[in-house]
Amino acid sequence: MVKVRGLRREDLFPFMNLLFRIFPHRYDPATFTSLYEIYPKGMLVAEADGEIVGFLVGIKSSRDKARILLLGVKDGFRRKGIGSLLLKRFLIEMTFEGVKQVRLEVRTSNREAISFYRKHGFSMVRLIKGLYEDGEDGYLMVKML
Ligand SMILES: CC(C)(COP(=O)(O)OP(=O)(O)OC[C@H]1O[C@@H](n2cnc3c(N)ncnc32)[C@H](O)[C@@H]1OP(=O)(O)O)[C@@H](O)C(=O)NCCC(=O)NCCS
Repeated sequence: MVKVRGLRREDLFPFMNLLFRIFPHRYDPATFTSLYEIYPKGMLVAEADGEIVGFLVGIKSSRDKARILLLGVKDGFRRKGIGSLLLKRFLIEMTFEGVKQVRLEVRTSNREAISFYRKHGFSMVRLIKGLYEDGEDGYLMVKML
């Protein structure tokens, strides 16, 4: 049974462990403790039998806009609807917060994520050349709420 809920302070360590497994070359852990202090509503986790198996990190970037910074599901738990649960919960929370537009960026090679976000109603709006530190391009994707 998978439960999606807000991240708690005691989840920070297992959350970061999973984050660095999925995204090994990115981010200073302090970024996430700061984000948690600034906007805890944007940090969601998926828990299965007491284990954190997925997370979403988002922020409300202005009065009516939000961004998804990271979304990840542990290997072995993918394609079971967990990413969708996290995303839907975030979109509901943002609707309550008065958000009208949600944006995110995705690597052009990340076919799974592109297909995932398209399925959830995001459209590709533009290509951003050299967006990532290794030089890869990204797509900006947007969904109106
Ligand atoms: C993208 C990600 C979060 C999706 O999570 P998930 O729990 O596997 O997603 P769901 O089970 O809810 O999948 C829903 C839909 O996403 C798409 N999708 C997910 N994995 C896919 C794959 N391997 N190939 C093609 N489409 C895929 C499909 O449309 C799928 O619907 P379907 O199963 O009915 O075909 C997960 O693959 C992941 O953690 N990837 C690595 C991290 C990453 O790239 N994050 C996104 C950028 S921040």
